[in-house]
Amino acid sequence: MSEFVQSFNQENKEEVQLVTIYDDENFFNKYREMPRSQKGLAGAGEWQTLKKLLPDFTDKTVLDLGCGYGWHCQYAAQHDAKAVTGVDISEKMLAVAKDKTKGYPVNYLKADIATVTFPPASFDIVISSLAIHYLADFGSLIANIKSYLKPGGTLIFSVEHPAFTAEGTEDWYYDDNGEILHYPLDSYFLEGSRETTFLGEKVMKYHRTLTTYLQTLLKHHFTLLDVVEPMPPANMLDEPGMKDELRRPMMLIVKAQNQIDSMNIH
Ligand SMILES: C[S@@+](CC[C@H](N)C(=O)[O-])C[C@H]1O[C@@H](n2cnc3c(N)ncnc32)[C@H](O)[C@@H]1O
Repeated sequence: MSEFVQSFNQENKEEVQLVTIYDDENFFNKYREMPRSQKGLAGAGEWQTLKKLLPDFTDKTVLDLGCGYGWHCQYAAQHDAKAVTGVDISEKMLAVAKDKTKGYPVNYLKADIATVTFPPASFDIVISSLAIHYLADFGSLIANIKSYLKPGGTLIFSVEHPAFTAEGTEDWYYDDNGEILHYPLDSYFLEGSRETTFLGEKVMKYHRTLTTYLQTLLKHHFTLLDVVEPMPPANMLDEPGMKDELRRPMMLIVKAQNQIDSMNIH
């Protein structure tokens, strides 16, 4: 438990663990070796799908929640965004991000994306790539996003897929020879924390159902624009483990629009 900072979610009176695992030396060194860290967006299996869903960034104000190395901030800036803000809780991730986006109109902020606030209507576009499954309370996150996303603005995020997070171990079942048998799906409707192993370290993530992800957006008066379960592109299928990614969904991408006339609806 030492890798987690304990904090307290006042609203829900429930303990929340802020992920600082990305600042752990061992974990960070292993993360650095991952294809998505080495090759950037080109090394991310979901990137080709996500890229097609991204809105036009020209002259837009963009926020990236859980920006990590800042790849998406960099992409938005390279595609003519007016200003980009990347938020992350990890100093080590932010240090890499700052280094990679020197000379671009990108600012970084060290903060918890669950609670960070901005003035109303600060952003045209809010992106989040593979960070929201670290948060305990999706409803309060969406309420926060609603407070700083412009009416008519776009929210696009990827998370680990509910079928991937449900059982908790995030690992296949193997036979006696170490060959994959199948991927476990269990405890699907029991939402909440899951202690899993990522890059050899214990990491806390949060599972919620597909219904929760989508209904929460609808309840907060977002219009769903797209829902996609990305598969690795054909040109990545020869990379280690990639063919197995066709056996179960690992990620979910959701694109939604903040309804223009919904700011005063509760
Ligand atoms: C899997 S990485 C994804 C990084 C980047 N978005 C990408 O797609 O390459 C998850 C990131 O979310 C950040 N993160 C997790 N929980 C967070 C929180 N509560 N507040 C801010 N950042 C958080 C981590 O520090 C890490 O950089």
